[in-house]
Amino acid sequence: MKKILVVGAGGQIGTELVPHLQKVYGEDNVIAAEVRDEVVKKLSEKCIAIKLDALDFQGYGEAVKKYGVDGIYNLVALLSAKGEQNPDLAWKINMGALLNSLNLAREFKCALFTPSSIGAFGSNTPHQMTPQDTIMRPDTIYGVCKVSGELLSDYYFKRFGVDTRSVRFPGIISNGCLPGGGTTDYAVEVFYEVVKNGKYTCTVPQDAYMDMLYMPDALEATTQLMEADPAKLVHRNSFNIASMSFTPEQLFQEIKKRIPSFTWDYKIDPVKAAIAASWPDVMDDSCARNEWGWNPKWGLQDMITDMLKVCEQKVKRGEY
Ligand code: SER
Repeated sequence: MKKILVVGAGGQIGTELVPHLQKVYGEDNVIAAEVRDEVVKKLSEKCIAIKLDALDFQGYGEAVKKYGVDGIYNLVALLSAKGEQNPDLAWKINMGALLNSLNLAREFKCALFTPSSIGAFGSNTPHQMTPQDTIMRPDTIYGVCKVSGELLSDYYFKRFGVDTRSVRFPGIISNGCLPGGGTTDYAVEVFYEVVKNGKYTCTVPQDAYMDMLYMPDALEATTQLMEADPAKLVHRNSFNIASMSFTPEQLFQEIKKRIPSFTWDYKIDPVKAAIAASWPDVMDDSCARNEWGWNPKWGLQDMITDMLKVCEQKVKRGEY
């Protein structure tokens, strides 16, 4: 069975990807790596967990060697809105973790998954049915890192034969760990706020369309792509994937149909507004569908039902 190392395992994606990978590859074949001590401790209750700074090439290499890793999932990232507060740090973390991952994947012959994002696109990208191969001139440091990362990952595949694969994640909606520092975070926060306080103040403009994805589909996409027949992959870094696209106002109106007392207002963050306006409204994901069978199961209504149910339970247990 393959040995998998998840780096940056304590974030929004890692929190749910680790148990998903355990189901696919076996409980003891997944190693969760995190830089924060308290998160390592929490992860260690459910899986093999190690403290690891992805920017420490030597320490990272020792872990890959020690566990005989076959596949690395590099989830280390400073997201779009936070990146704008400190572009130097965003470059250092996002690109540093990727470069180390690529070089170790090359040295130890591992497959490598590093998510890209809708953030890889920019204002002059076609916003409707954004094609797989199109103009990519992002306006954020996060996006600059994502485009650079896609190019570098393709380069390592072509030049050194490293098995690099990736998807451009839309905003991911989940009920495990809250995202932090992203432009799409509102679509997660609102569920907790509506359950807890019955109201929400949104920092993204009411008419900003962005692609979103429910976590179970994000997890499925990840393992499905990593297990796909390489002979069928025309693209690698990175695939558009999509399942739903909506504006804040549309989401809130739908939630209100379930919870009529829900109220909301807007206090626009100009940085997030500019970012949201520069990203696609809806992506064309036909290459992912054709090349490796991407087929999302969750739509807006099912997602809302599930999010409200789980968030209610979490709020009741005092976990939010
Ligand atoms: N969720 C991310 C962000 O908003 C996009 O990949 O930054």
